[in-house]
Amino acid sequence: MPAPTLRLRGFDIHKGYLSATDQQALVEALRGVLKAAPLFSPTTRFGKKMSVRMTSAGKYGWYSDGRGYRYEPRHPNGTPWPPIPEEVLAIWRDVTGHDRQPDCCLINFYGEGARMGMHQDRDEADFTWPVLSVSLGDDGLFRIGNEERGGKTESIWLESGDVVLMGGEARLTHHGVDRIRFGSSRLMPKGGRINLTCRVVD
Ligand code: SIN
Ligand code: MN
Repeated sequence: MPAPTLRLRGFDIHKGYLSATDQQALVEALRGVLKAAPLFSPTTRFGKKMSVRMTSAGKYGWYSDGRGYRYEPRHPNGTPWPPIPEEVLAIWRDVTGHDRQPDCCLINFYGEGARMGMHQDRDEADFTWPVLSVSLGDDGLFRIGNEERGGKTESIWLESGDVVLMGGEARLTHHGVDRIRFGSSRLMPKGGRINLTCRVVD
């Protein structure tokens, strides 16, 4: 388990965790996942289309529509989610120190103008398991708040290759992405930001 570069409001931030070569290998592995499980635009439980496009790998995928937020065993096209790439599982094992595999790797794609409002990750059964986040591609302005809604917040730019561990006392801390710097990274030819979050669901 490597030591984090910095700790912000209980989140362990590992700046530059992945080398350029590792980032490229990860994007290649994700291409296979996206082919089997194409990105889609979920709606919030209020019926509003999200600006972030999503898909998942693993036993479950995170899903949202007018019925609420939940995990589903199948992609909306009816097929099971593809397996979580080994490259992602290796990061999970190293950074969390856990042998138990995550059940879900949520893949968020932020195109130009996409953002994610402040929220808690609370659709999992057991909050003693951390959530691990991996950023690839364009920079994203990540905002960290409090366990309760509102209050003071602090923000940090997450860059390609950064890894964040959201666990322990901070497992239910609100967080979101205000904006991305579209085109700031050369990792993906058409630009955009990918964020992976690994979760233990059951
Ligand atoms: C999320 O909270 O699901 C995504 C966080 C991020 O994009 O960095
Ligand atoms: Mn989240």
